[in-house]
Amino acid sequence: MSIISIHQAIDLLKKGEPVALPTETVYGLAAPINNLKAIEKIFEIKKRPLNDPLIVHVTNLDMAETLISKASIDFEKLCKKFWPGPLTLVTEKNKTLVDDLLTSNGSTVALRSPKSNLFLKAIDAVGPLAAPSANLFKKVSPSKAEHIIASLPGVCVVDGGACEVGIESTILDVDRLKILRPGMITISDIANTLGKTILNQETELSNIPGAEKDHYQPTTKVIVYSSKDKLEEFLKGRSHTGLDLGKDPRACAKSLYSNLREQDQKADFISIKWSPEYNLENWLGIKNRIEKASSYWMD
Ligand code: TXA
Ligand code: MG
Repeated sequence: MSIISIHQAIDLLKKGEPVALPTETVYGLAAPINNLKAIEKIFEIKKRPLNDPLIVHVTNLDMAETLISKASIDFEKLCKKFWPGPLTLVTEKNKTLVDDLLTSNGSTVALRSPKSNLFLKAIDAVGPLAAPSANLFKKVSPSKAEHIIASLPGVCVVDGGACEVGIESTILDVDRLKILRPGMITISDIANTLGKTILNQETELSNIPGAEKDHYQPTTKVIVYSSKDKLEEFLKGRSHTGLDLGKDPRACAKSLYSNLREQDQKADFISIKWSPEYNLENWLGIKNRIEKASSYWMD
């Protein structure tokens, strides 16, 4: 609906109205975890099924500890190393303080501390905030305020500029040491911090709504190709606009969702050329989002 100040956002949050706030990853649609009516509104606005749990955002480890059953040594080490930052940790929840609505009746809660002074200010004022990405369910996440204005017209947004990371946080099940969603904090970053092996199990999680393949999809179908000849053969004269991933994963992640949005509905297909280097570990988060955004993948 409109761009608002952080003070106006805090007033709306106190009144139980969800607002979109910037984080370093993507913009989140936030509401206080102790206001279940406001949490319900998040699901309604996003058209998100209730069986897809929300991430709870906290300022620091102390606040996180109040919402979980017990902080393990690994949990503490990862918070100290990566928070505030793009790492979400899943562990057993404090059943009294974290309602089943937030966790889709599960016994665990996903927590992270975002690296955004505006977001942290809002948590300071109203307490822990649940916030999924501020997009319609299954659509491309917003990395700029204008993306929300275009796709969620009824929602007020605090404009924090373009998100620095650009894709959603890495999610780790910290009790099983399994990656549930890859991101720009890599498996090696986590393994080196803990001195332990980390499994990548995100591909097995297709029963969790957020892990479904047809996520992050623009309206125009995305096709990934390695050989130009095969692409031409597939297109049979139909039009396409090329999205170049470049050579730097950080720069690529930062602009990925803006590029997908800008190129949407400009041609019959959005084409992405795949290079072998994109299979390296530091591209894994980007590869995951492109796999989910794409309708065709031709090796
Ligand atoms: O970077 C991010 O993580 C952004 C910003 C706003 O913080 N948030 C975000 O939230 O991406 P969302 O709701 O769009 O994606 C969160 C994912 C969903 O796929 C959900 O299923 C999963 O996290 N999730 C949440 N709680 C979980 C839990 N307790 N166990 C396993 N997965 C969980
Ligand atoms: Mg999302």
